[in-house]
Amino acid sequence: MAGPVLEIRNLTKEVPTGNQEPFVIFKNISLIVKEGEFVSIVGPSGCGKTTLLRVINGLLSPSSGQIYIDGKEQTGAGKDLVMGFVFQGASLLPWRTSVKNVLLGLEGKKNSGEAEEIARFYLSLVGLSGFEHHYPHQLSGGMQQRVNLARALAVDPRILLMDEPFAALDAQTRTFMQLELLRIWSQTKKTVIFITHMISEAILLSDRVIVFSHRPGRVRSEFAVPLARPRSLDIKSDRRFVELENVVWKQIEEEVRAAREGSPI
Ligand SMILES: Nc1ncnc2c1ncn2[C@@H]1O[C@H](COP(=O)(O)OP(=O)(O)OP(=O)(O)O)[C@@H](O)[C@H]1O
Ligand SMILES: [Mg+2]
Repeated sequence: MAGPVLEIRNLTKEVPTGNQEPFVIFKNISLIVKEGEFVSIVGPSGCGKTTLLRVINGLLSPSSGQIYIDGKEQTGAGKDLVMGFVFQGASLLPWRTSVKNVLLGLEGKKNSGEAEEIARFYLSLVGLSGFEHHYPHQLSGGMQQRVNLARALAVDPRILLMDEPFAALDAQTRTFMQLELLRIWSQTKKTVIFITHMISEAILLSDRVIVFSHRPGRVRSEFAVPLARPRSLDIKSDRRFVELENVVWKQIEEEVRAAREGSPI
């Protein structure tokens, strides 16, 4: 049987503070992500989720611990095509059209005709056929995030890292994008690590939800989502969905309270 796509062992990230004690962002995180799995991470603000993704992506190095991708230990270099990264904010270049933004990751890697074909394919996959030559300012927030998603998918990353990609969208657009991501994921079967503050979003999308403690972030618990696919919004009223949402919420509430102990709210 094939091994996991990603394995993290005892990963710790700390930064020096100028005092004796370093600032520990997350501590001893171990995690295994299987091929084609959709895993969400939820946890209190500041517990190190974004930092963890940046370490997995090779943008930052860990203080200790190991990262294995397809069984191969990552030592920092040459990972740029392994991951695709979708952030919360608009990270499109404003002076480039949709197709040119998607082409960014492909430049120098494919010949231009082939690259453009790939870019157009992914734009159509995310529902943006006909918007290839629009500039970011001509697109809604949801459409801009679709371009970001197309750009991340176009490099055919081994793992797609998504850091609160829908947080800046209005509630209706966000719900629509969740359904779109379900559709796109079912078509691409990518391995995804998805960070969100919205528990219902994590459950709707994921095979597994991982709850982090407050900083220094540790894996507090993890839950397999016991809901069949394909999923639609109706699933949110399923008793198992509601129960899981409550359990996860209680844990996060405890973590937020613990983090605030001793400091004014
Ligand atoms: N390079 C750095 N130097 C010092 N502190 C840092 C550095 N990077 C992150 N931090 C701190 O580490 C903690 C975790 O940050 P991070 O952005 O990873 O949290 P997060 O879980 O993504 O939070 P949020 O849910 O608000 O996005 C924060 O207190 C942040 O200020
Ligand atoms: Mg963050």
